[in-house]
Amino acid sequence: MTTAQTLDFQAPTPSPLALLLLGRESDPRSERGVECPGDLPAPSDPDLVERARAAKAKLGDKVFVLGHHYQRDEVIEFADVTGDSFKLARDAAARPDAEYIVFCGVHFMAESADILTTADQQVVLPDLAAGCSMADMATAEQVAECWDVLTEAGVADVTVPVSYMNSSADIKAFTGKHGGTICTSSNAERALNWAFEQGEKVLFLPDQHLGRNTAVRDMGMSLDDCVLYNPHKPNGGLTAEELRGAKMILWRGHCSVHGRFSLESVRDVRERIPGVNVLVHPECRHEVVAAADYVGSTEYIIKTLEAAPAGSKWAIGTELNLVRRLANRFAGEGKEIVFLDKTVCFCSTMNRIDLPHLVWALESLAEGKVVNRIEVDPEVASFSKLALERMLALP
Ligand code: 13P
Ligand code: SF4
Repeated sequence: MTTAQTLDFQAPTPSPLALLLLGRESDPRSERGVECPGDLPAPSDPDLVERARAAKAKLGDKVFVLGHHYQRDEVIEFADVTGDSFKLARDAAARPDAEYIVFCGVHFMAESADILTTADQQVVLPDLAAGCSMADMATAEQVAECWDVLTEAGVADVTVPVSYMNSSADIKAFTGKHGGTICTSSNAERALNWAFEQGEKVLFLPDQHLGRNTAVRDMGMSLDDCVLYNPHKPNGGLTAEELRGAKMILWRGHCSVHGRFSLESVRDVRERIPGVNVLVHPECRHEVVAAADYVGSTEYIIKTLEAAPAGSKWAIGTELNLVRRLANRFAGEGKEIVFLDKTVCFCSTMNRIDLPHLVWALESLAEGKVVNRIEVDPEVASFSKLALERMLALP
């Protein structure tokens, strides 16, 4: 495959999600998306903060609230821990005494928490419609079909699946069953190194950008070592020869939020702010990552800014809730932090978890009623766990 073909990037397929009412209706094509039962408090209720505090205090050690860095400030305020998806998976697994894990993040993160916690613990996602459009881009049927294509081409035996945490439990189970591992944006290179010790090729799911950026930027592979498997085309749009010649078989999935950053955004910010450091998440397109000064997970972004000297200037290519919070946090230390793009770029599904949903979930738990429980099917969970534990054990 040529470089131009490898970098082919198309706008996301429109999702019906945007048309769903907050907390209601469902999107049958998504890994999440069933309706949210019960009555939510009104967002205008002036007592929401007090109600969240009271419910949390009543629950005490029974509840552990996890908050992903992309969550709104109003939700982060009630998180016992915050983190990137790797840290949150580890934190959830490290709290066997908490009866309830309230996951303020998206569906695949809550599923992973359920898989990694004990059978007595119950994981709650305050809004079931908080999914991830990237995770929806790889379904179990499509991935099984892809494996058949690899088998047909005679490469399945030497291919190790590496799936990004941003995938459904079904995809994680497929990965575990086929000898692969999960990775996150903070350990993708270690996961790929491990995978290349087990086999000759990697099937990287579902984020083409994280796969390509890690292989090319961090591991010195060439763009021609990568091919793009398009689940919407017969045989993924690839010939058996292309599959045999590739080291990295990248699934054609992406994050619509990070996909909005372009080379133009980088050039523009460098022109507007002389001396600016460009720091982006590895879910950004390859040309954006190649033009950036620093690349890493949400946790890496935070640590880099913590260590940055006063007077330094930063343009950040990741979700807006986090960038805004960091800009406010470090303004007093004289660090100038701006959003990489000119247009706003929230993750709409992360944003679905708001204070009314959190209050509703906490108050329900305080009354002994478990709402929005995320429970992964036991067989799926056991294979997913295998893949997740391989990740947690990565050197
Ligand atoms: P992190 O693993 O960096 O938290 O990223 C998760 C995510 O969904 C980024 O879009
Ligand atoms: Fe998914 Fe992108 Fe949102 Fe992360 S930012 S949860 S990858 S849609």
